[in-house]
Amino acid sequence: MIFIKSEEEIALMREPCRIVRDCLDFVGTRIRAGMTTEEVDRLVYDFIKASGAEPSCLGYCGYPASACVSVNEVVVHGIPSGRPLEEGDIVSVDLCAFKNGFHGDGARTFRVGEVSAEKDKLVRVTEECFFKGIEGLKAGTPLYDIGYRVQRHAEENGFSVIRSYTGHGIGREMHEDPSVPNFGRKGTGVRLKAGTVICVEPMIAAGGWRVRVADDGWTAVTLDGKPAAHYENTLVVRDDGVEILTL
Ligand code: MF3
Ligand code: CO
Repeated sequence: MIFIKSEEEIALMREPCRIVRDCLDFVGTRIRAGMTTEEVDRLVYDFIKASGAEPSCLGYCGYPASACVSVNEVVVHGIPSGRPLEEGDIVSVDLCAFKNGFHGDGARTFRVGEVSAEKDKLVRVTEECFFKGIEGLKAGTPLYDIGYRVQRHAEENGFSVIRSYTGHGIGREMHEDPSVPNFGRKGTGVRLKAGTVICVEPMIAAGGWRVRVADDGWTAVTLDGKPAAHYENTLVVRDDGVEILTL
């Protein structure tokens, strides 16, 4: 069931969403070669706590950290570890903050120093996929138009769309209905109503879309070992467009 948010609820959601945005921006200024993914997680934890919010991911279904930190072939849900970032890596940082009774959720993929032309394009196209996906989005848009647009842009650029993870509704719970896939057929799916709050999060792979989950039960890696990127924002569907809460 899709919960439509009132203006009062949306006003409450702005704060956790702003914290997510500011935290991602902050992490982006700190990422560098030599830093471990655990150190990235510590920055996230401290930032969210100092903002008076709670890191929603910590303890969620037993997840052991405040952020997902996914390097190169890790698509999503990379568990922070002692692995040091290296020049040429791309690293996706995905995090959620809880405040005012609501969650905010966002992700960015950062380049560590100079990266290959392929990784550079992958990061750029993944961001573009988000903006293509929401182009023209407003009340009345069929849900799967988002995925249709994301997929078209990714595949036009020679990349593939991860199938087994999707965007989602968000609010008092981190994951609410509807599921928002990054692929689909134009003109299908429920027509989104004004006041629906969703996370649109393209996960795009340079090679094939197949993934496997590591023995830790979380870390999703591409089967072919090629890099993947992730970009996510929380947004409100409005009568005349969208309001992005984490930008
Ligand atoms: N932030 C992720 C999302 O985009 C969820 C992370 S799963 C968790 O939905 F276990 F780490 F919380
Ligand atoms: Co999300």
